[in-house]
Formats: sequence, structure tokens, C-alpha cells
Amino acid sequence: MLLRVISDVHANLPALETVLADPPGAAADMTVCLGDVVGYGGDPAECIELVRDRCKIVVRGNHDAGTAGRIPLDRFNWEGGMAIRWTRSVLGKADIKWLSMLPYFQELEEFFLCHSHPAKPESWTYVLRRNQALAAMETREGQVSLIGHTHLPKVWMEDGGSSGMNSGNLSDVRIINVGSVGQPRDRDPRAAYLLVDTEKGTWEHRRVEYPIDDAAARITKASLPDVLRQRLYRGT
Ligand SMILES: [Fe+2]
Repeated sequence: MLLRVISDVHANLPALETVLADPPGAAADMTVCLGDVVGYGGDPAECIELVRDRCKIVVRGNHDAGTAGRIPLDRFNWEGGMAIRWTRSVLGKADIKWLSMLPYFQELEEFFLCHSHPAKPESWTYVLRRNQALAAMETREGQVSLIGHTHLPKVWMEDGGSSGMNSGNLSDVRIINVGSVGQPRDRDPRAAYLLVDTEKGTWEHRRVEYPIDDAAARITKASLPDVLRQRLYRGT
């Protein structure tokens, strides 16, 4: 199976459309989404519709939960809270309900899928340090965890070491952060996603250029904080 994994779309429709059209991923047998479909960007309804249509599995991100009223807005930074308030104001009831029903995690073959920390997906803890990665691996023995949340593409090995390498063998890694489609933060503004070939036993972090100007214009049109527009160009 060729598995395409997307995460942290953050209502960036031009990035999502570009990722879904990227040739290697377009041949995928299955697409899954690791949460944060909305928040920060200017096209939440359109992104929900496309993700719902194209993804077999979607798990809950903290911005999805915040938009659905499941997390208090004081848990978000100022611009994040502003974007969630605006997102709520433009989504219909059916979309809010869909966000509120997303599961914290799903399992697919040898993969554990969640947005934040595989040991406690509802905690919204980041996996950034070695001890956090080791705690996740201990809880998900025998599985490869696929996660998002930090917007930083990365892999962790069995010994807790991490790497920013672009591709490798599944047997060498225990956690893969797939990066962000709609708001990369590794100083590379290109949209990120992950491809996994379960038959070959390989994984690949993909990056694709997309029309950032279009996504930026949508943020401006929605009168969202300008920092959200600027960071798309910086990839931070
Ligand atoms: Fe996110």
C-alpha cells in the first residue's frame, strides 16, 4: 500500500490542493490526515470539505478541538485564538459537528496515528525531545507512530535519537512527524507531507512549492492577524 499522510493543513487551501495533486502522492492507495484541518488560514470550510472527501482517516488536532469548543481559547496564543474565533464564525453547524467528532487516534496496520503525543494524544504535548520520544515509543511498543503538531518534519529512532533526513526504511524508525501542509515551521515555506510504501518498507518526506500569494490573500481578506500571512513566506 502507498500511504499518503498529511497534517496541519490549517485552512490553507492552495497548499492542500497542491499537495493532493503532487504526482507521487496522487498515486496513493490511501490518504490520512493527522489533524489541525482548520485554524490560522482563510479557507476552513473548503479544506474540511476536501479533507473529508479525500482522507480515509482523520484524527483530531488541537485547533479542530478549539474550533469545536472542546478546548478553551486561553490555551492558544493570541493569533491562534483570533483565527479560531473567526473560523467558528464562518463554518456551518455540520462542519463544527464534524470537527467535534474526530477521534484522538486511530490505528492502521502497524501505524499509530495521532496529532500530538502518542502516549497521550489528548494532552496536546509536543514530541520535541529525546525523553518525550522515548515515552511515546514505550507506550506504542511494536508500532510506528505517525504524528504532526510541531509542523517540523522529523523521525525518531529506537534509541530516542532524531534525524531530519528525507527518506529511509520503516524498520529504522519508530516515530515520524509528517510536517505541515499549510504552515511549515522549519524555515522551508514549501508544503510538507509524508509518503509510506508498506510493501517496500520505506518512507519519504515530500516538499512541494505552492502559490503562497493565494493563501496570503485569503488571510488578508479574512482580516486575520498579519503575522499569520507573513509566516507563510518565512516557513516559521
Ligand atoms: Fe498545527
